[in-house]
Amino acid sequence: METTTFEKLNDEQKKLLNEAEVILKNSYSPYSKFKVGAALLTEDNKLFTGTNFENASFGASICAERACISGANSNGYNRVKKIAIIAKSDKINSDFIVSPCGICRQVILESAKISEVDIEIIMSNKDKTKIIISTINELLPLAFKLDKYN
Ligand code: THU
Repeated sequence: METTTFEKLNDEQKKLLNEAEVILKNSYSPYSKFKVGAALLTEDNKLFTGTNFENASFGASICAERACISGANSNGYNRVKKIAIIAKSDKINSDFIVSPCGICRQVILESAKISEVDIEIIMSNKDKTKIIISTINELLPLAFKLDKYN
């Protein structure tokens, strides 16, 4: 786990986080008013983005990370190596750094099983001034796994 700033990110990380921020405007979040954008990079350096998509039946809402991963898979790309996330809301201040929910961690772990990469997770505050870089195995220790390979 590393706390850093936007300037210290490499070009790939900067691009991912910027794309996550751009897509966030498409977030459908009328209930929480909490907009989340995610951008992932695959092994073939393909970039996919996603936003949260809420539902009147709150539990049916989909997080940005899962929308992003599912969209990439639907397009034939599921060997994920990095994912960046950013959130904006009137409810959060600049100290708040968004991190994936428990379900999304489990889904990112599934992606890591596919790509055989300990997926890097770039988490940002709303103005990209405070950033944490971690990996899925660090964020989900002692995870549920069905087999010995993931
Ligand atoms: N949300 C995400 O999209 N990703 C996260 O990492 C945390 C939460 C969404 C779900 C819901 O639409 C809103 O943020 C508030 O929980």
